[in-house]
Amino acid sequence: MTLTDPAAPDISPRPPVPLVPAALAQGLTVPKGFGDQSLLSPRPDAIRLLGGIPDPSALPLAELRESLGEVWDADGAAAALQYSGSHGFEGLRGWIAAREGVDPRRILITNGGMHGLSLTVQALVERGGRVAVDNPVYPLFLRTLELVGADTLPVPVEADGLDVEHLARRLADGERIAAVYTVPDFHNPSQGTLSAAKRAALVELAERYGFVVIADDPYRELRFGGTDQGRQVFFGSEHVVHVNTFTKTLGPGLRLGWLVLPDHLVDAFVRLRNRQDSHSSTFVQTLVEHLLVSRPGWFDATLTEARELYRHRAELLVAELAARLPGRLDATVPEGGFFLWPRITDDAVDARALHARASAEGIDYQQGEFFVTGPGTDSARRLRLAYGDRTDDELRTAVERLARAFG
Ligand SMILES: Cc1ncc(COP(=O)(O)O)c(C=O)c1O
Repeated sequence: MTLTDPAAPDISPRPPVPLVPAALAQGLTVPKGFGDQSLLSPRPDAIRLLGGIPDPSALPLAELRESLGEVWDADGAAAALQYSGSHGFEGLRGWIAAREGVDPRRILITNGGMHGLSLTVQALVERGGRVAVDNPVYPLFLRTLELVGADTLPVPVEADGLDVEHLARRLADGERIAAVYTVPDFHNPSQGTLSAAKRAALVELAERYGFVVIADDPYRELRFGGTDQGRQVFFGSEHVVHVNTFTKTLGPGLRLGWLVLPDHLVDAFVRLRNRQDSHSSTFVQTLVEHLLVSRPGWFDATLTEARELYRHRAELLVAELAARLPGRLDATVPEGGFFLWPRITDDAVDARALHARASAEGIDYQQGEFFVTGPGTDSARRLRLAYGDRTDDELRTAVERLARAFG
């Protein structure tokens, strides 16, 4: 066919037909509140108690460099730059499985916690499905629900985690859900841990009503107080997907995490993963696998140090708040993780106005209202203070500034 052919399509210049994103991409919300950069303090010396970020000193900078050298010297370089399987590296999966106490087949390597969450939502929640979520909640989970247009059922979170009885009552009243999402250890934002009894009760509900528990556990390794409430009840159920990540222990930039899946879901997840990005970076998996496998005991030793660092920071922050803001915030030291969730005790203090004054003083924190998913919580009277990557001096100065904001 030539251009002079009378049957040729008309390609004469026309105004371009606009290209629009698909409905899914168009429907994704822009950050409001949580993650909204426009709310940051304008001061260049502002101190940010904003994110669940590990301290650089707790990350394996030197060890990863050594690992890289060792892998390269052992002629691992070529393989590290090649394709690998969707399920993830066998050696890495084996190392994680031994730590979790499950069969390695049940481990699926992901690109970190958020990826694990979105993969789980896409694999298990039908379009428009209903998902019970923590109230208050880790807000980025709600964003993963946008991928399937899911609707939410808020469930209050208490000092010992999700109010499982509340959920049981809703289910008994006829409510039906595809999944429940909760952070069982050192909750983000509310710092508590789901008790062993509630874990068992939650799993029982999931099995009775046929939904999945999405247990999002990125802070689990960072316990510095209290008693471990156990995970085996989760791993022993065909109704739980356990989401984890190396973000808080080896560094968020690695983008490396894993799911512990019930055996019957493994093939479906691997196939879905295969249609997305094929697999996590071979290079990153090579380095991390080498780091963990070739240095027995190293991970635990580094965690021992990290936990001490975070304990110290949590205690220091609570002590500074008590000293400079006596009776104004009811802060308690958490048992682990990166967050404090103090409540403003005086009802006369307006939480938004306080935040605006704090921002002007040069301290950034997350306002409790950003985490609310429904009525019946005092979250809007709370502050989420993240201390993981702040030095002692920064924490002291931040509290001085907060005290000025209280006036
Ligand atoms: C509760 C919770 N889930 C998931 C994530 C995301 O982890 P990742 O950075 O590995 O995607 C975070 C990180 O802050 C988190 O706090």
